Amino acid sequence: MAILQVHQAKALKAMPEGGTHPGLMQELRTATDFALRATKITARSLGKAMSTLVVQERHLWLNLAEMRDMNKARFLDAPISQHNYVKSNSLDRCYVKLISLAEQAFVTLTTNDSYARGAMVLGKSLRNHKTSKKLVVLIGPHVSNQSRAVLHKIFDEVRVVDVLNSGDTATLAMMKRPDLGVTFTKLHCWTLTHYSKCVFMDADTLVVSNIDELFDREELSATPDPGWPDCFNSGVFVFRPSNETYSKLLKYCTEHGSFDGGDQGVLNGFFSDWATADINKHLPFIYNMSSIAIYTYLPALKQYGANAKVVHFLGQMKPWSYTYNLTQRRLRGDVQASSQHGFLLQWWALYSAEVLPALIREYGDQRFNSGCEEEAVESEERVQPLVSSAERRHLWEQGQADYMGIDSFDNIQKKLDVFLK
Ligand code: UDP
Ligand code: GLC
Ligand code: MN
Repeated sequence: MAILQVHQAKALKAMPEGGTHPGLMQELRTATDFALRATKITARSLGKAMSTLVVQERHLWLNLAEMRDMNKARFLDAPISQHNYVKSNSLDRCYVKLISLAEQAFVTLTTNDSYARGAMVLGKSLRNHKTSKKLVVLIGPHVSNQSRAVLHKIFDEVRVVDVLNSGDTATLAMMKRPDLGVTFTKLHCWTLTHYSKCVFMDADTLVVSNIDELFDREELSATPDPGWPDCFNSGVFVFRPSNETYSKLLKYCTEHGSFDGGDQGVLNGFFSDWATADINKHLPFIYNMSSIAIYTYLPALKQYGANAKVVHFLGQMKPWSYTYNLTQRRLRGDVQASSQHGFLLQWWALYSAEVLPALIREYGDQRFNSGCEEEAVESEERVQPLVSSAERRHLWEQGQADYMGIDSFDNIQKKLDVFLK
């Protein structure tokens, strides 16, 4: 275009004053014709781009009008790249892609029904502190249907994964934690590629204040491990799901194994520059305050403990390893002196008020380990039902409750008294 304009200007300049020059006139006509054609093509493509933008904008606002406020805020916050618009043929697909790219999630893991109780409490604690992020739980195939049903009520996504095990019994015996080989299963979290960024949290963590600001950090951000502060603790970490990273991690496992037999050894080996490369990837300790450290540095707990945002019940004894008295709101045994006693009670208060009722509903008359002292008394008094709990539930739903027998008001009240005191 610029060349044509120069050519036009030169032809005009060379034109004799007051007269015409047929050769130059032809030259000028040809150059102008080319310039007009080029302008037409530019105008047409500009028009097309403009109309596409108008349609996209309209589509976007129509969808936004139907969206819940929480999702709207999340979506409008998301980085919108031209790449995503241009590549997609269908506006719908483009919209869905943008939405899911914007999505961020807290992720936890449980391979059994015990840790599942921890995951439930963690999920509730995140919800109670009004997280705007999605909640995902990875579960092993052995988690019971009842636990799955309760997890579905709390989490946005319950994803079954294969259990990966380091099988490194010798190293795990050194830590006196033979159970931790299965923590390799945690690595599956990198396959959650429909989220742009995630925060992994162990099932034995409890959130005591909103921590959505963790999503401002980059992979791999974590707190120092209280046992060896040049390693990070893998109970809470920020990561970016990626199938490529997942494959590299698995390769790392087969080639190098794990120095502690669990995921923390692998992750520290893989993200080996964590200790020195970038201080922004060192999360403050209040995002993963391990109970073990509380025990070893009591004055620091007194000074900073009130600022804790996440408590991590690291070590062999988990909150669900204790027995709780619902009536007295006390833990059985000699735990009062322990520095984490207050946090244990906080965990149990949340469990008994918001998780246990849902478990009771799911298990019906089937026995399960609720962890409560009253359960033992109650189960001794329990009359064996003549029909199975599933059948009974069905009858109840059909309006055929056994009002004179097992579903009598007395029995229902007794059950409520036991659990909801
Ligand atoms: N985990 C699990 N099943 C197990 C052991 C561990 O699902 O049998 C998961 C769970 O999310 C747990 C995490 O792996 O929080 C790490 O294990 P744990 O918290 O027991 O390790 P610690 O923090 O005590 O070293
Ligand atoms: C640690 C971490 C835990 C991890 C385990 C095994 O103590 O707290 O998250 O799974 O070691 O590596
Ligand atoms: Mn843990």
